[in-house]
Order: sequence, then structure tokens, then C-alpha cells
Amino acid sequence: MAPPSTPTPLVIASGNAGKIREFAALLAALPLEIQPQPEGMEVEETGTTLAANARLKAEAVARATGCWTLADDSGLAVEALKGAPGVQSARYADSDAERIGRLLRELAAANRARGAEGLPPERGARFTAALAVADPTGRIRLEVEGHCPGLILEEPRGGGGFGYDPVFLVPELGLSFAEMDKATKGRIGHRGRAFALLEPKLRALLG
Ligand code: IMP
Repeated sequence: MAPPSTPTPLVIASGNAGKIREFAALLAALPLEIQPQPEGMEVEETGTTLAANARLKAEAVARATGCWTLADDSGLAVEALKGAPGVQSARYADSDAERIGRLLRELAAANRARGAEGLPPERGARFTAALAVADPTGRIRLEVEGHCPGLILEEPRGGGGFGYDPVFLVPELGLSFAEMDKATKGRIGHRGRAFALLEPKLRALLG
């Protein structure tokens, strides 16, 4: 009988509890020992794209820990706001409630301006998750992106999830991210879709 293999440590380069919960569920079937990033570690997100920021975080945390590291940078692009908040999604305001408040106010103003020009309201949006995996030396070995299209609701709905989840509606299901169970968001959400692309490559790399 082959000896049981030791799980490979994989650090999740994030301080966001919501993201860590989602990754822990997505990674549960892999022979990995999931670890949080070092306490208090903050990597400055100076990149101009989500992918660049995911790479920065994966490289820095892998170098600091000497472990395989998975980083995610995600963002919400709203059509009527010309793609904002986008790469600035985390820095749009100081708390989730304030970020949602600012988004709804700016979208309402943009749609009033569209109305004044005789244009219909536009509530289309898209979540993107850029994932990067660095090896223990800090070299980027895998990169993928997942997307989830949807609509911005006029008011928050649902008590689950985190971040912008209560105002992001997935029209096919008629549910906001915050109204979905974890498995459903894991299947159709941007992070789950990115992870579906990453998983076979990660198994091949670490298996
Ligand atoms: P970052 O990827 O940590 O820079 O986070 C980007 C911003 O988008 C933060 O405000 C997060 O709370 C938010 N965000 C990231 N992923 C999700 C998600 O799956 N649902 C809702 N908000 C999210």
C-alpha cells in the first residue's frame, strides 16, 4: 500500500474572511493544508489591473512564507459607471455598507443623467476574480480569470455573503449573491468560475 501523502501547505494571500471561507470550501477536495497569510501582513495593491494585483499578492506572500500561495484580486465593473469601481472596488469607501451606498448613489445619478438624454436605465455589471498561484520562491506559476455577469439591484437583498453581494443580482436565478447558498455561489460566482479553470492545473502542479 502506498504511504499516505502529506498534504502540501497552501497559503491564501488574503485578509478578507469572506474570500478565505469561499476558498476553503472550493479547495476542500484537494490534498492541501490551507493556511492563512501571516497576521498583519498587507500587500499594497499598486497594480492597474486585477491580474497584476493578484500576482503582487501571491509573490509577496509566497516569499514571506516560503509556501505555495494562492492570491485573488476581485472587482465589480458597472457598465453605467464606465467600469467603476473595478480595480478600486476595495478602496471605493471604508466599509462594505459605505461601498454599497456609494455604488447605489453613483448608479442612480448616472441613470438620471441617461434619462435626461432619453436613454433607458442601465444596471448591467460584471464581477471578475483574477487568481494567481506562486511557488515557494515567489515565482508565478498559474494565472486565471473568472467572470460573472449580473445586474445591480436598487436596494440590498439577502443576509449572506460579503462585500457587494447584497446588491449583485444573477438574473437567471433571480437571486442576489447574498441570497444564494454557498454551493450555488461557488458554482456560478466569479471566484468559483475562476477556480474551476485553476483546479485541474493546480492538481497537475501540486499532485
Ligand atoms: P480585493 O480583491 O480584496 O481587492 O476586494 C475587492 C472588493 O470587492 C472588496 O470590497 C470585496 O469585499 C469585494 N468583493 C470581492 N469579491 C466579492 C464577492 O464575491 N462578492 C462581493 N464583493 C466582493
